Amino acid sequence: MKIAVVKETFPGERRVALIPSAIAPLLKAGCEVLVQSEAGQSAGFLDADYEQAGAQIIADRTAAFAADVVVAVRFAGADPDSLEHDLPQLREGQILIGSVDPLGHPESVARVAETGAALFGLELIPRITRAQSMDVLSSMATIAGYRAVLLGALELPKMFPLMMTAAGTLSPARVFVIGAGVAGLQAIATARRLGAVVQAYDVRPAVREQCESLGAKFVELPLETGDSEGKGGYAKAMDESFYQRQRQLMSEVVAENDVVVTTAAIPGKKSPLLITEDAVKGMQPGSVIVDLAAERGGNCELSQPDQRVDVHGVTILGPTNLPAEVPNHASQMYAKNVITFLNHLLKDGEIQLDLSDEITRDTLLTHDRQVVQSRLREILDLPPLENNEPTEESAEEPASESGSSKNEESN
Ligand code: NAI
Repeated sequence: MKIAVVKETFPGERRVALIPSAIAPLLKAGCEVLVQSEAGQSAGFLDADYEQAGAQIIADRTAAFAADVVVAVRFAGADPDSLEHDLPQLREGQILIGSVDPLGHPESVARVAETGAALFGLELIPRITRAQSMDVLSSMATIAGYRAVLLGALELPKMFPLMMTAAGTLSPARVFVIGAGVAGLQAIATARRLGAVVQAYDVRPAVREQCESLGAKFVELPLETGDSEGKGGYAKAMDESFYQRQRQLMSEVVAENDVVVTTAAIPGKKSPLLITEDAVKGMQPGSVIVDLAAERGGNCELSQPDQRVDVHGVTILGPTNLPAEVPNHASQMYAKNVITFLNHLLKDGEIQLDLSDEITRDTLLTHDRQVVQSRLREILDLPPLENNEPTEESAEEPASESGSSKNEESN
């Protein structure tokens, strides 16, 4: 079986789906690996490194689509311009694996379905214990949380650590992290390492201990959060009156911090609005907000995707692809996720689609010229398919809160 790695084409995307050290396990499993020339270059992996690892370098993207399996960081809805080029290359029986933004671009999944190719969306990997090392959302959120704090530190006209110098004492920067899932916990850890005083808040009271073990003070807000946790350790959407009260209560905490990193998210929903323009006005001049949720509506009213907004003396950043700014380590983590996922699908050197398996069923979007993922069929107004009912296995234990065990570090 031939597995091909394409060079990413999305603007600013510098990651690659497989790195040279990920080639050996695939060769061992009986596969051949083809790598499009310069696929890994922007992440620091040269064609020669792949060749040395046993891969064959191929000239272009079209040649990659001759393989049985094609892996990418971004496919379909996550790279809509390339989809136009890719569609005529797709065929029955071919397997495509990558992040495809199925909920943001369901129509692109429907177009892939028409070609007969089987498309896997890695962002739909369930957050269950045995899938933890396939979970691209968690691995990439770890990087985003780290990078968000660095961006905040660079923008802030202050230094992060406490400094006692002959020229006087400089007090440490104050950082507030909103949302303590995967990205948030890594943001806390990074800000603490840089010496900031860190506060954190999450609607799920269960994460308090994790925040504290990383050195953050957990902010107490008089809000009823008893039923804020839904399936799989994720937060549930709350009603508008809850958010209104949260915004009000949190604006005081926002005002007393120099950098606010927002990571609050509800799976499959628009991000909750948590910082209003009034709250921004309350911040000290020079303060910074880094809104990781900017791509999905933003946690701050004023943030704009991939724009820098300077307003009321505050800088608001809304970066949408931070993992691509750390392409070497991001590719290393992404490749580990892909390899583990491929190994899960491979039986005797061939890919087997076992739809009774929760991981396969949740991530497989198209098969037999149909959109097969039940949630996506609902979004596309398609009737449910027979034999697509969840099995008992769906009751499997979720991974530890928001997959955060991967991020737990004591500081
Ligand atoms: P996650 O689901 O692990 O964490 C989100 C956290 O927000 C959860 O702990 C949840 O309880 C909390 N939350 C939900 N509503 C809240 C509220 N009203 N107040 C306080 N906390 C609340 O998600 P993850 O993986 O950490 O991702 C966080 C965000 O970062 C997502 O929006 C994701 O799309 C985004 N992201 C952005 C990247 C970028 O480059 N900009 C890269 C990776 C992720």
